[in-house]
Amino acid sequence: MTQILFKNIDTKGLNSIGVYEKQGGYRSLKKTFDKKPEEIIEIVKASGLRGRGGAGFPAGLKWSFLAKDVFPRYLACNADESEPGTCKDRELLEKNPHLLIEGIIVTCYACRIKTGYIYYRGEFQHASDLMDKAIEEAHAKGYLGKNIMGSGLDLDLHTHLGAGAYICGEESALLNSLEGRRGEPRLKPPFPAVEGLYGKPTVINNVETLCVVPWIINEGAEKHAALGTEKSKGTKLVSVSGHVKKPGNYEIVMGTPTSELIFNLAGGIRDDNKLKAFIPGGSSANILPADKVDVRYD
Ligand SMILES: Cc1cc2nc3c(=O)[nH]c(=O)nc-3n(C[C@H](O)[C@H](O)[C@H](O)COP(=O)(O)O)c2cc1C
Repeated sequence: MTQILFKNIDTKGLNSIGVYEKQGGYRSLKKTFDKKPEEIIEIVKASGLRGRGGAGFPAGLKWSFLAKDVFPRYLACNADESEPGTCKDRELLEKNPHLLIEGIIVTCYACRIKTGYIYYRGEFQHASDLMDKAIEEAHAKGYLGKNIMGSGLDLDLHTHLGAGAYICGEESALLNSLEGRRGEPRLKPPFPAVEGLYGKPTVINNVETLCVVPWIINEGAEKHAALGTEKSKGTKLVSVSGHVKKPGNYEIVMGTPTSELIFNLAGGIRDDNKLKAFIPGGSSANILPADKVDVRYD
């Protein structure tokens, strides 16, 4: 099965820049800087990449909604991951922080952004510390800072820990919290692409969404668009927990039946008991009976 995000995830030392580069890391930057920012947005649109934070909004389309000619613009990466049972962003953040940095650099080039924030749920201190180290390494190598690889892009990245509130995963509450206000959702419109952080146009994407971007640049939009179902392209990280033999995060191609996840990847039901029901998503999803186990993920 195609692996976009988890291909090298268990490589020892992957969260250090040397190992990441040896695995082909930061390769997408040259390809990115050889193109115009608008071309990158078109590539991501053509790839069919939809947001992995829950709402499934097309990523490239969201970027194209940024208020024209209004600067500065900001990027806020949503690393709040508060949905019960979900722990896939955490694995990416802790094991492959440079992949997220690379995805953010490409996104900020495409959207002409010079300042990015990664907003973590309050409990993600360890992931945030690892990211601070990765950001330092990326600065030292010239992947962050002024005029990155001669591209003209200046970019600084900052990490920020929330205080541990589920609602701060909602994008506008996240922005309030980042600004030091009470973490409550804002009325929309205006949408963040028009008036976001500090009242400026802001791109907000989930960790997993941004981590897919380098692969799309390296492999091409068509290859991404060829994976999955008609409406959901690419792969998806799914956190499997409960009464299975091998709980954990698994990367599946969109459209994979749930039965494959439960009975093959996660090893089946503990003690070989019979499946009675399952929850296909977070706590907002319905509980499905066992006879729906062939429902395809999208
Ligand atoms: C109550 C609530 C909680 C949310 N929690 C998260 C979260 O923990 N992580 C996340 O990425 N998105 C979360 N979202 C979705 C975000 O509002 C937003 O749609 C998402 O970060 C956009 O990124 P994407 O387009 O890459 O998916 C939440 C939404 C709601 C309504």
